[in-house]
Amino acid sequence: MHVVVVFETLWGNTEQVAREIAAGIGADRTDVVDAVSAPAELGADVDLLVVGGPTHAFSMSTASTREAARQQGAVHIPSRGIREWIEAHSSAERAVLVATFDTRVTTPRLPGSAAKKAMKRLVALGFRPSAKPETFGVHGYSGPVTAGELERARRWGEELAAKIPTT
Ligand SMILES: Cc1cc2nc3c(=O)[nH]c(=O)nc-3n(C[C@H](O)[C@H](O)[C@H](O)COP(=O)(O)O)c2cc1C
Repeated sequence: MHVVVVFETLWGNTEQVAREIAAGIGADRTDVVDAVSAPAELGADVDLLVVGGPTHAFSMSTASTREAARQQGAVHIPSRGIREWIEAHSSAERAVLVATFDTRVTTPRLPGSAAKKAMKRLVALGFRPSAKPETFGVHGYSGPVTAGELERARRWGEELAAKIPTT
């Protein structure tokens, strides 16, 4: 089983969630890569793609929301996020399974989800949803991830793995 997890993070919260999901999936081969270094095309042997990023302004981040994050004290500002990584993709040659997740502040609870937007675009490219877009909570903009969410991320990874056909 070969799984690729592509994440974007500014303060590290989404990366932590991504690594728990990958651990839960427990595939023979799981590549956990940030959107800057993730390959433009997936290998022919990939069984599942997982894409996750922070929710910014009710959606996936943009260059300007990432710049706003810098002004809020974020030190690691990636040169591209999951939005640009998805945009760089041509249509999928086969209907690869995909799951998306995001991180969002829990208080106040705001509408909008990067995971839902990402899923919409990935489905338009021909990917096949493996699960509903999932959200994990963080405290404030910088985190940390709220209590119990890393455990829930690992369990979600286990559920995703169970949906991958074994043949
Ligand atoms: C410019 C900006 C806009 C944001 N907009 C939202 C939002 O609309 N809804 C939300 O729940 N969180 C919002 N957040 C909080 C982020 O979701 C939070 O910083 C992120 O989950 C932290 O993950 P990271 O450490 O991986 O970057 C925003 C953060 C920034 C910097």
